[in-house]
Order: sequence, then C-alpha cells, then structure tokens
Amino acid sequence: MKIALASDHGGFELKEDIKKNLLSKGYEILDLGTTNGTDSVDYPNYGRICGEAVMAGIAEKGIVFCGTGIGVSIAANKVKGVRCALCTSVFMAEMASCHNDANVLALGGRTTELETALEIVKTWLNTEFEGGRHQKRVDLLNQMR
Ligand code: RB5
Repeated sequence: MKIALASDHGGFELKEDIKKNLLSKGYEILDLGTTNGTDSVDYPNYGRICGEAVMAGIAEKGIVFCGTGIGVSIAANKVKGVRCALCTSVFMAEMASCHNDANVLALGGRTTELETALEIVKTWLNTEFEGGRHQKRVDLLNQMR
C-alpha cells in the first residue's frame, strides 16, 4: 500500500519517525514535504496536497502532521472526498477506520508522543471499515462539498 505523508515544521520530526517505521514494515511512501525540516512553512499547503494525492489515486491513504494536527486536518478536509480524522488515541484511530472510513489521518507532533502515534497509525491502517449503518453516513459526508 502506498501512503502519502505531508507535514509542516511542527509535524516534521514525527513525520520522519513515522515514515521510517512504515518503510520498515514494507509500505510504500510518497513524501510530500515539507522539505524544509523545522523551518517555518504554512500548514494549509501540506494538508491540501496530501488530500489531493489521495483523491487523485496517487496514494491509497494519507497522513498529515502539524504541531497539533488541527490545521492540517482542516486543510485536508477542504478537499472533496477526503475524510481526515485527527486522532490522539488508539480508540479514536479504531473508530476513524471502522465508523468513518477515514482516508487521511492527522497527527500532532507537539501533542502526541511517538509511541502513541505509532500505535495510532498501526490501528488506523489495520482496522476495517464496518460498512452497514456507517455506509449511509459516509455517503452523506461524500455528498458534501
Ligand atoms: C505552527 O506553529 C502551528 O500553528 C501548526 O503546526 C499547527 O499546529 C496548526 O494547526
């Protein structure tokens, strides 16, 4: 599976750590930046480009990072068809997949420890969408602009 990653400066270090972990597990990674390390950049550009990569089918899923995960999740969710979930716990990651069928995950580099972030990513990737009553709700989301 190919996963697109994008972060601003606040999420850069967490993105690098998650990238290493996913590569070691055999995932293919499309790194959309920032390429400026921890130099200040604007998070809306990174949330958006990752959402666009997923909707264009260049990657199956995306993970966006900023200081809190809030800004990049707002930006990713502006892209039609993106269901980006900001998760701070393993339970949220499980629900993001089985109830919301989230195609993009958002994480905060200044709010979530690496160990928790790794568990969140693993859970989000390995939990199946339940469908059933949740399908109709996801369909309603998909109809929204
Ligand atoms: C950048 O300082 C910070 O505002 C950003 O990383 C993010 O937390 C925005 O939501």
